[in-house]
Amino acid sequence: MSEQRPVPVLKVLDAEPNGFCEPGSDYCEVPNPQPNPTEGTASMRALQITEYGDNGVLTIADVSLPAPAGSQVLIKVQAAALNPLDATLRSGHAQAVMPLQFPATLGGDVAGVVAAVGPDVTDFAVGDRLYGNAYTLLGGSGAIAEQALVQSGNLAPIPGELSFVDAASMPVGGTTAVEAIVNNLKVRSGQKVFISGGSGAVGSAAIQLAKHLGAHVATTASGDGLDLVRELGADEVFDHTNTDFSEHLRNFDAVLDGVGGAPLDKAYGILRRGGTLVSVSGAIDQARADELGLTAIRQAAQSDGVLRQLTAYLATGAITARVGRTYPLEEVAAAFTALENRSVRGKIVIIL
Ligand SMILES: NC(=O)c1ccc[n+]([C@@H]2O[C@H](COP(=O)([O-])OP(=O)(O)OC[C@H]3O[C@@H](n4cnc5c(N)ncnc54)[C@H](OP(=O)(O)O)[C@@H]3O)[C@@H](O)[C@H]2O)c1
Repeated sequence: MSEQRPVPVLKVLDAEPNGFCEPGSDYCEVPNPQPNPTEGTASMRALQITEYGDNGVLTIADVSLPAPAGSQVLIKVQAAALNPLDATLRSGHAQAVMPLQFPATLGGDVAGVVAAVGPDVTDFAVGDRLYGNAYTLLGGSGAIAEQALVQSGNLAPIPGELSFVDAASMPVGGTTAVEAIVNNLKVRSGQKVFISGGSGAVGSAAIQLAKHLGAHVATTASGDGLDLVRELGADEVFDHTNTDFSEHLRNFDAVLDGVGGAPLDKAYGILRRGGTLVSVSGAIDQARADELGLTAIRQAAQSDGVLRQLTAYLATGAITARVGRTYPLEEVAAAFTALENRSVRGKIVIIL
């Protein structure tokens, strides 16, 4: 288990009305989160960074409570899940394409209860149980906070009795799988589908969905992920640490690549002419796809409405959540370590 160490706590309560601290103040070292014209005076805790770096830059800051404007919804967060993107954003490795505005509150996957709505919100009301995506890059204020602003279009009602923890584990991975398997690959009964990285968040949802749609599913995993993908219903399972799937698979109709690199490179060769390849992790070689008669799609984001598609699959049980471990906010650095060490199988969820 990862060694746990405390995350520093900074106070930023006495901020200037414009959302930033008095320069030189001993008390206030970090500006407030995303400026919002209707911010109130109440406070909350939020996981913030003021610079890129390793887990040493993670700070639990006391910040002003945001208030929703326009089509924003204020969520009283119950749970927020980590994704590989969170470590990438924290490190700054993605800053050329996804720059953060500091101080930045981290986190996207969120579940909680509506605390307030902006004046343009018509579909949600105070008290609703919702889940969705609070990434600042999508107009939210960041999920790993006691309260989070989320664009109403990035939220949906939590289906049935699904817990906040399970709901928080689903939005990014689940919508990515639905977009790939249903909307881009258009998987149908009887088709042969290869899912590269079946034991991950995207892959786990994708296997369940492809099996639900009646497909034959081949996939890769390693370690205890091998048992997981079999449990999810995969028909053919390859250990990527010692077996080359591309030597065993031919004439597949569809590929979902969630790994990139060499596995993506090899996946072209297993598709039949007219087949479709979707990668959520690597660049497409269009010339090669053309030569082989393939449709190849680099799926970088999800379309509007896909969260509600996911909700329907969760409501019927076609897709189920896979939570590996929960952490309290105070142990969020250990949670990030586990994410990057890949030491937890299943989603890592922070309890707020
Ligand atoms: N484009 C988008 O909109 C979008 C959205 C979400 C995620 N993503 C990307 O999709 C990818 C998967 O995300 P996730 O949340 O599912 O991640 P995850 O939960 O960390 O899963 C990673 C998967 O990759 C597998 N893997 C790791 N190293 C491998 C290797 N060398 N060879 C073969 N497989 C390997 C793992 O298998 P084992 O652990 O069993 O070895 C696991 O199945 C990430 O790159 C993420 O950034 C993209």
